[in-house]
Amino acid sequence: MCGIIGIVSDAHSGAREILLNGLERLEYRGYDSAGVALVDESTAIYKTAGRVAALRRMVGASADAGTGIAHTRWATHGPPSETNSHPHKDCKGRVVVVHNGIIENFSTLKKALQDDGHQFVSQTDTEVFAHLFEDELAALDKVDLENATAAFRRTISKLDGQYAIVTSVAGLPGVLFAARSHAPLLAGLADGMTLFASDATAVVEHTKQVVYLEDGDLAVATPEGLHLFDIDGKTIERAPQTISWDIEDAQKGGYDHFMLKEIYDGPRAINDALAGRLFPTPPHVRLELGMDDARLRGIGRILILACGTSFHAGMVGKYVIEKLVGIPVEVAYSSEYRYGSEVREEPGLAVAISQSGETADTLAALREARSRGHTVLSVCNVVGSTIARESDGVLYIQSGPEIGVAATKSFLGQLCALYLLAFRLAEIQGTLPASDLRELERGLQHTSRLVDQVLQKSETIAEQAALIAKADSCFFLGRQVLYPIALEGALKLKEISYIHAEGYSGGELKHGPFALLTPDTPVVALLAPDGVYSKMASNIIEVKARGPQVFIVTTASDTEAEQLGDHVIRVPDTEAIFTPLTHAAALHLLSYHAAAARGCEIDKPRNLAKSVTVE
Ligand code: G6P
Repeated sequence: MCGIIGIVSDAHSGAREILLNGLERLEYRGYDSAGVALVDESTAIYKTAGRVAALRRMVGASADAGTGIAHTRWATHGPPSETNSHPHKDCKGRVVVVHNGIIENFSTLKKALQDDGHQFVSQTDTEVFAHLFEDELAALDKVDLENATAAFRRTISKLDGQYAIVTSVAGLPGVLFAARSHAPLLAGLADGMTLFASDATAVVEHTKQVVYLEDGDLAVATPEGLHLFDIDGKTIERAPQTISWDIEDAQKGGYDHFMLKEIYDGPRAINDALAGRLFPTPPHVRLELGMDDARLRGIGRILILACGTSFHAGMVGKYVIEKLVGIPVEVAYSSEYRYGSEVREEPGLAVAISQSGETADTLAALREARSRGHTVLSVCNVVGSTIARESDGVLYIQSGPEIGVAATKSFLGQLCALYLLAFRLAEIQGTLPASDLRELERGLQHTSRLVDQVLQKSETIAEQAALIAKADSCFFLGRQVLYPIALEGALKLKEISYIHAEGYSGGELKHGPFALLTPDTPVVALLAPDGVYSKMASNIIEVKARGPQVFIVTTASDTEAEQLGDHVIRVPDTEAIFTPLTHAAALHLLSYHAAAARGCEIDKPRNLAKSVTVE
């Protein structure tokens, strides 16, 4: 899972800045090394084991071209190093390529190429492409656009696996070739230039007209535009789509980190997820679910598939749907479900949740669910993403680009989408009195203001985070609908501050983890005005007796919190069912401030990437 970008233009300069700026926006996809090729009469390649900022310094201000390709890497084959960073080239330096994904048959191909005398310099799978294309080009009588395109098709047909590839060929100035199979790639169309990129954040500054490549698509780009075709060379017609957001949405807007900006985007993310979906007349909840009313009425069980933070949203969805609709909901990690035994499953509704819409495990789980007869609804942020395109219906959360590796605003958007789904099912299946449902709908619409009020407590939260920042290990506790929020709080803290953290159900801590509690192990306990308040209070008392400092997140009118814990973060009063939104916002700030206090690199935590497009 790397970020790639390419540009071909009718100018002789300008590519350097477009590529480096684009790479900076794609860095969230991987950042262990970076490289750029500036393609003119000759090709200049710059690579570093550092980040894009280091690459920028290395390239300097004078090198430029009108065409080029660039890459920011998250290592899969071969450790992060200058040699293994992209672009890669063939023996003669004629083919230059960037690639995101994994060429699964690379070792067989590499062996055959080496036997034929090809010299490999890197340990990457990508380099085989350059040498394969080299052979195909060498076999041509004449390297013109038509012949080279056919050679490109023959090269691509030899690859198995996942790839988004962009490549240039010396002697064919003003041309880039590209191909996509199970890794995201789009083309941006602008006046006098055509771009390729892993996602729209890298091109939106230059154009809002994009064509999303699909699996099996190959493309040739020239400054005049794009030619799409399949592996047999048959032309594919696909109309461009218009991106609905601006470059400002993909920038930090004055905040120190994207994560902080995106936490502050939370109230807007809630409003955007609800926009155009709640109405005063029936049907009160209107969603593009890809299913008619009869089908919705008949849904008797739901399977939710997701990874990471999206999985936690799915767990909240389970509590909410089971409570409001009364049908069983199973939540499975995508990576487990895809290899699970095929139990006798009644075909039902599978909901795949993915911010990026590109997570490899969730995509594979979605395909598995479909093959088992489920209708698939996806909850995605990125429009046109693979998961969205392969689903029967899509509930877009409409949060705009999320750049920080740790998901924040999209989590709130996902929760809103799941509340809406629960409301819609409750409405059509008649499982709640209409007045209760209207009350809940109004309550949900009000939550953006509540989250806004939580964000105003940033300073208090930062003071408490400074105490947690001193710890080596921390526990998060919650019950029922706040149990997934405890898991989410722990995930956020560990991924950005590197403090070991675990989330537990309040009742479970005494079954083992109690052994780890000491005065130096802070415990963050989440309370809601719900049926398990007193149970959770007892759990906190049990914890307190073992010496840890207890930090409580609770609602405004909780009168017992100060007696239970050492530190209290209060969020505004709301129905217990909506506390995942308010408490998650508080915990996102808590981990942000703890990581900031420890001087961590918040937007790009070590070893992680935002979108995991490999298994
Ligand atoms: C990565 C990210 C997480 C994210 C997870 C699932 O691990 O670092 O923040 O929750 O992938 O991503 P998705 O795009 O499918 O929601």
